[in-house]
Amino acid sequence: MITVYLNRRIGDDDRRESLFRGNFFLYTDIAGADALADHAKDLISQAFEGLDPERAQYEMDVDEFIRRVEPLKGEFTNGQRTKELCQQFAIDLGVDPERTYFDIPRLRVIPADQFLTAGVSYNYKAHRDMWYGHPQQLVNYWTPVFPVVGENVMSMYTDYFDKPVKNGSNQYDYDEWVAKHRTAAADNKEADTRPHPLPLEEFDSRGEIRIAGQSGDVFMFSSNHLHASAPNTSGVTRFSYDLRTINLDDVREGRGPRNVDSGATGTTLGDFLRVSDLTPLQAEDYADALATR
Ligand SMILES: [Fe+2]
Repeated sequence: MITVYLNRRIGDDDRRESLFRGNFFLYTDIAGADALADHAKDLISQAFEGLDPERAQYEMDVDEFIRRVEPLKGEFTNGQRTKELCQQFAIDLGVDPERTYFDIPRLRVIPADQFLTAGVSYNYKAHRDMWYGHPQQLVNYWTPVFPVVGENVMSMYTDYFDKPVKNGSNQYDYDEWVAKHRTAAADNKEADTRPHPLPLEEFDSRGEIRIAGQSGDVFMFSSNHLHASAPNTSGVTRFSYDLRTINLDDVREGRGPRNVDSGATGTTLGDFLRVSDLTPLQAEDYADALATR
C-alpha cells in the first residue's frame, strides 16, 4: 500500500522514513519551490524570445529547438542563482541544512508528439535512479514549471517499489558515464545512443499512477520507485525541474529502501552540495559507508 500525503507538516526524519517505505508527499505553496519555478520561467522565456514556450516547438525545426534548449538547460543546472534557490527550496521543505546535501537540479524539456525524444529531451524509459549510480537514500522532488496534465508528466509504477525488474544497470558505471556520455546529449537527435540502463523484461503497468500539479507544486518520492517519462500526448511541451537530496546520516547508517535490482557501480555522491553553505560532499564522509555494503 502506498499513501499520498498532501501538505503534511512532519519532521524530515519521519518523512524520509515514510518515503523509504514508498509513500508520496505533495506540497503546494512552498515559497522556495515557487521561486525556483519562476527562475526557470525567466530563463525559458529568454530562450524562446517572445514565443509561447509550451507551443514554440510548432514554430521551429528540431535543430533550432535543440539550439535553444541546450544552453537553457545548462544555465538552469549550473547557474549560481539556481544553487541559492535550491538552498531556499530545501530549507522551506524542512530538511536539516547541515546534514542534507543536494544534487544540482535538472530542467526537463519534453516536447509533445515525438517531436524530439532523445538527447536534450530524452524521454526516460522506466528506471530507478539507483540504476544511474545514485544512492539508495535518495529523495526526489519533481516540480512542474507550467501546470501539467496526466498526458505529459511522469509514470510511477508503484507495484515495483519492492519488486525487482530485470535491467541493464550492472553495465552502468557512473564515472564512465560522466567521462564519456553526459555532455553528449545534444548530439543525440533521432535516437539516444547513450547506454542508459533499461528494463530487460516486460513489466505489468496496471499499478501506474501519474501525478499532475500546478506550477511550483512539489511531488516528493523515493528514487527507488520505478518511474519513466510518460509519452507526451498533451499537445504542449512539458517543462519541469527535479532536485534530489540525501541526508548524510542515512548514507552512513545504511538507511533507505532495499536495493531490489540495481547493479550499477560508481556513485553520484561526490556531486552533492551541502544545503547550508554549498560545500561539496567529501569522499571521506561516505567512503566507510560504501565500503561496508
Ligand atoms: Fe529518475
